[in-house]
Amino acid sequence: DGGADPAQALAGASVLLTAGPTREAIDPVRYVGNRSSGKMGYALAAALARAGARVTLISGPVGLPCPAGVDRVPVASAAEMHAAVMARVAECDLFIAAAAVADYRPAAARSAKLKKHAESLTLELVRNPDILAEVAARPDKPFTVGFAAETEAVEAQAREKLERKGLDMIAANHVGGAVGGLEADDNALLVLWPGGRRALVLMPKPALATALVEVIAERYAASTS
Ligand code: CTP
Ligand code: CA
Repeated sequence: DGGADPAQALAGASVLLTAGPTREAIDPVRYVGNRSSGKMGYALAAALARAGARVTLISGPVGLPCPAGVDRVPVASAAEMHAAVMARVAECDLFIAAAAVADYRPAAARSAKLKKHAESLTLELVRNPDILAEVAARPDKPFTVGFAAETEAVEAQAREKLERKGLDMIAANHVGGAVGGLEADDNALLVLWPGGRRALVLMPKPALATALVEVIAERYAASTS
């Protein structure tokens, strides 16, 4: 018996997915942000919906339309994304963290616009909660998939994140180079799970998302059989 059919594994499954960047307020008109376009997360949401999953997309600010059949919850900061995830995580079968969540936020967001005076300005930043690690540490944890964006030693650092956070799977990509990554239309991924790996070669993000959903469906089927 090979367990559940991977092609059908996601039909009717409830998936909670984060995507896009977060914005950490400095004052009412400024924020700390990052270069995430949200394209990979949105392509994943669309591919999951095509596989028959019920998808809730917790999305940071991106200029992308909501994919067909996907329920979108817009958020701005990491704290808002954290709250939106925690309010829904108990009901989901899979959690996929594709967002580029800010690791730090300004210690205190000013209520009034910061004025220029001195020749230099120091901004104090404090740690944000790690949404993915918190979900993976739950006793009733869903099948949990993380991403890892690395500029060097991609496989070793991703494998370390997989193990340290107790994930079921991690999709690693090389960023900061000439091809692929945060803002690009194409990307390549190295998918790792406890005891296995699969390389997905450079291709447009929609095709890559479809290939990644196939790997997720296979591993999810294996985990539930
Ligand atoms: N992530 C998250 N909440 C955070 C930070 C990261 O859910 N506050 C998730 C991301 O969505 C991604 C994974 O954790 O799926 C890994 O993000 P990454 O930035 O590569 O790793 P970090 O654990 O933040 O470590 P570092 O930035 O130091 O490499
Ligand atoms: Ca990080």
